[in-house]
Amino acid sequence: MRSHYCGHVTTKELDQEVKLVGWVHRRRDHGGVIFIDLRDREGLVQIVIAPSNPTLFKLAESLRNEFVIQVKGRVRRRPDGTVNRDLATGEIEVEGIELNILNRSEPPPFPIGEYNEIGEETRLKYRYLDLRRPEMLYRMKFRASITRYLRRFLDDRGFMDIETPFLTKATPEGARDYLVPSRTKPGCFFALPQSPQVFKQLLMMSGMDRYYQIVRCFRDEDLRADRQPEFTQLDIETSFLSEEEIQQPMEEMIRGMFKELLNVELPNPFPRMPYAEAMARYGSDKPDLRISLELVDVADLLKDVEFKVFSAPANDPHGRVTALCVPGGADISRKEIDDYTNYVSVFGAKGLAYIKYNADGLQSPILKFIPEAAVKAILERTKAKVGDIIFFGADKSSVVSDALGALRLRVGHDRGLVEKGWRPLWVVDFPMFETGDGRLTACHHPFTAPKIKDISELSQEPTKILARAYDMVLNGSEIGGGSVRIDSSELQMAVFRLLNISEEAAQEKFGHLLTALKYGCPPHGGIAFGLDRLAMLMTDSTSIREVIAFPKTQTATCPLTDAPSQVDPAQLIELGIRIHKKVEDK
Ligand code: AMO
Ligand code: AMP
Repeated sequence: MRSHYCGHVTTKELDQEVKLVGWVHRRRDHGGVIFIDLRDREGLVQIVIAPSNPTLFKLAESLRNEFVIQVKGRVRRRPDGTVNRDLATGEIEVEGIELNILNRSEPPPFPIGEYNEIGEETRLKYRYLDLRRPEMLYRMKFRASITRYLRRFLDDRGFMDIETPFLTKATPEGARDYLVPSRTKPGCFFALPQSPQVFKQLLMMSGMDRYYQIVRCFRDEDLRADRQPEFTQLDIETSFLSEEEIQQPMEEMIRGMFKELLNVELPNPFPRMPYAEAMARYGSDKPDLRISLELVDVADLLKDVEFKVFSAPANDPHGRVTALCVPGGADISRKEIDDYTNYVSVFGAKGLAYIKYNADGLQSPILKFIPEAAVKAILERTKAKVGDIIFFGADKSSVVSDALGALRLRVGHDRGLVEKGWRPLWVVDFPMFETGDGRLTACHHPFTAPKIKDISELSQEPTKILARAYDMVLNGSEIGGGSVRIDSSELQMAVFRLLNISEEAAQEKFGHLLTALKYGCPPHGGIAFGLDRLAMLMTDSTSIREVIAFPKTQTATCPLTDAPSQVDPAQLIELGIRIHKKVEDK
């Protein structure tokens, strides 16, 4: 049907006859001559239809935007003064000889050719049209270049691409499962994998040595701008490598990809930061190092003050009192401070105390509660200068870190304190366990190896044990996470027990893994990267939905297909399922 892509026709084809197909991007009638911008995946080319051929001209007059046409024509140089330097095909035009309408289009619900504020719901309902827009096309192409690069890198280094099942058992990664009812075993369900974690470990036990997969994962969790219910991981597992030996080629892969696709040099090696340091300095386990503001702990200076808001958490081993000094921030208005106070309340903060360091002295609602010596010590420790503001967080440690960590980012963005460029790092030395409502949960996942010499250490002070886990963080986004795994059945069972998973429950859920661990398991470990997040960062997109061809909305639905939807009652009967009407909240 075609000899060239529209976007590929250049002066090399001068005087040649070409056959093009594509969509009418725009049609302009100019003093008896019709210009058509014809568009395909590779770009635009200008077709000119002269009135000398009345049948052809009449047909061209009937063209509307988004009609699909075929054109035969001759390539010629554009007349002087009409060259378009912004277009790859801007030096030429194609003089139409034959025109064939392959399919007509109704007027599209939004223009394809020009920038327009379109509601996301409409964009997703007509995603196939949205994807015709140049910025979406660019993102899809860029994403394809990411997977192409990654596959090549891993193929060249002996990683084997192996598929793992989607219809499987629950895989714990901290979210709810998507369940699929079984017809052959009524009343039973498959779970879609939250990740291929257990299977990739089993592949190491099979002796595959190095595995990768670009794989869909399914997690029913609260959605945000950087989360989707189904998303793609670059999933990797290796045998006989230590954490440093895993991190090194992974860094090399990401560095190589940034160089090849964006011509960006990332640091070599990436800096490493222990989790405890990241929380202390940035209030986050995924610090955005482009913002230089840091949290400074001041609990020791406030233990004896009368102001209970500060002294109570200062004396509580689970409390934290920290300060965030914003250089030049004394001009932040009362209203802005109120906004920030509301903002941190979302993270559980009960207030946002501050001290402004004005030229004529300090200004603050809390000065009267704090002895002068303590104030002086705070100013010294935070290195505050005239013109600065210091914000304070005082509460349970997790609340303060979340709230002030988020405030640090917010103020950094509001005040233009975000440096340009890319700041990757590894966050290492994560704790093995977290304690929420008194129960232990795995910080990464329960297959991660603890940093212990002997299994007996597990029972001593579990919350103090570190994990052999690592996250790769880029500009405040967690783009990958992994660990060295437990490779002994006893240790795995001991960790399950700490996590309050009984022997019976462990056998029921992970019996296959516990058994496999007894048949000669190699030391192994790996990592998974969030491919959508990488694509989002690298294309500078505002949401993960912008880099996924057919994403779900924030409420995990698809406006295009209307999924999820009700099913035929006969199908439910076959599956042995009866739907209970949800009782409305009283
Ligand atoms: P983890 O749960 O950290 O690790 O996931 C790895 C990476 O996947 C991305 N990611 C997501 N991206 C979009 N939407 C989501 N809902 C979402 N959830 C996670 C993140 C994250 O860093 N099995 C382990 C990996 C391992 O230990 O090897 C795992 O899945 O970028
Ligand atoms: P109050 O005595 O509650 O009116 O608080 C005095 C100041 O302390 C106000 O500026 C509050 O915003 C602030 N504040 C109250 N609770 C906290 C807290 N937990 N952390 C930081 N600041 C707080």
